[in-house]
Amino acid sequence: MTERPPRQGVSRRGFVAGALSAGAGAAVGVGATLALTDSAQPEHRPGRPERSFTAFEGPHQAGITTLPIPEQGLVASFNLQTRTRAGLTSVLQELTDEIRGLMAGKPPEVRGPAYPPVDSGILGEQPPPDNLSILVGLGASVFDDRFGLANRKPKELVTMPFLANDKLDPKLSHGDVSIIFEAGHNDTVQFALRQIMRRTRSDLVLKWMIDGYARGIGAGQTSDARTPRNLLGFKDGTANLDVDDAGLMDRHVWVQPGDGEPEWTAGGSYQAIRIIRMFVEFWDRTQLVEQENLIGRAKVSGAPLGMNDEFDDPDYPEDPDGKRIKLDAHIRLANPRTPASDENLILRRGFNYSRGFDGAGRLDQGLAFIAYQRSLDNGFLAVQKRLTGEPLEEYILPVGGGFFFILPGVTGEDRFLGDQLVG
Ligand code: HEM
Repeated sequence: MTERPPRQGVSRRGFVAGALSAGAGAAVGVGATLALTDSAQPEHRPGRPERSFTAFEGPHQAGITTLPIPEQGLVASFNLQTRTRAGLTSVLQELTDEIRGLMAGKPPEVRGPAYPPVDSGILGEQPPPDNLSILVGLGASVFDDRFGLANRKPKELVTMPFLANDKLDPKLSHGDVSIIFEAGHNDTVQFALRQIMRRTRSDLVLKWMIDGYARGIGAGQTSDARTPRNLLGFKDGTANLDVDDAGLMDRHVWVQPGDGEPEWTAGGSYQAIRIIRMFVEFWDRTQLVEQENLIGRAKVSGAPLGMNDEFDDPDYPEDPDGKRIKLDAHIRLANPRTPASDENLILRRGFNYSRGFDGAGRLDQGLAFIAYQRSLDNGFLAVQKRLTGEPLEEYILPVGGGFFFILPGVTGEDRFLGDQLVG
């Protein structure tokens, strides 16, 4: 692949959007990976993601800008059972303690044979390093009258509305607490999920969940050619924001002091989750040229139509009438690349899902689209508004998801997730 100067703010490494991907290193101060001692370091096979423990502490939670992006992902949404501020505080403390231990690979306590074991045993005696991150967000419902937190609500946090083309299933939507698990292997994800649920059993009740994966992963490699594909067969993540650019993350992802938000929110981020089903059988019967026009990119190479390289600029000013890339192509509507639309850049970090098939025998596959932004109105909602009515809608159906606010990171042993909110 030819080397070209990167477009400002966009990763040259094919950092992934719609699908979990790969890369090396970690954003400064964020989710840095912990080096292992030589004896604990697993053998690194070329082409396999490098495995380590991910740091829990930092100004931001891990799992948003952390690299490499592991292959497996799971979103779980819970409802809170407690109705008191003290109860909520205790849930956040328990969650923090459990997540801290899980992400560090803390061996489970050994109990006598007369008791049920403390963990499921899925990972054996010592959980191996597997790039596990566990990311916690709160829904707008937490700021109702239960906990007396209404005046501390992030100002743009709302229950996700019905948007054009939506057919939201209440059984797959909203919730008080979102937790996203990412790891190299699904066993690690399932282990962490069960430990968290066990620890918070009386306080958090599962509302909905979806898990998935991405392919084409080359974690530990920095190959542009390895941008994963979504289940429509297109490379997904090409034009995502570069998570290694801390200034860009401050500008577009992290809430900043002085944003007019409650003070406790600084360092957090708005999370938009959309479970988007794809009508893959219908898509597979659609002509290639039509598929490419709907997206605006070549299917095989991922290049903008009429260009050669995946990372070429689509150059819309040179194509004002949409002769090359249609005016209503997905990428052109999502990001027209004007100075005004620069305000709406979002960081995508979702994954593919496949959940069997429906009653009509159609595959139940799609994209767990997950985006992070400093402002929900300027970010996801502005982009979604431009996409409303796009021709791609014929092939996709948003069926669930929710809006959440990702709590700022934990910056000390004695601190816990959301302490500034509930304190
Ligand atoms: C199943 C639904 C979707 C599919 C199949 C899809 C697919 C794609 C593909 C193939 C690309 C081009 C590669 C890339 O740059 O990542 C892309 C880009 C993009 N998508 Fe989507 N997408 C979906 C939903 C969404 C949603 C819901 C949003 C936000 C509301 C969104 C926002 C974007 C943005 C901002 C870009 C980058 C455009 C650019 O900067 O050139 N996508 N999408």
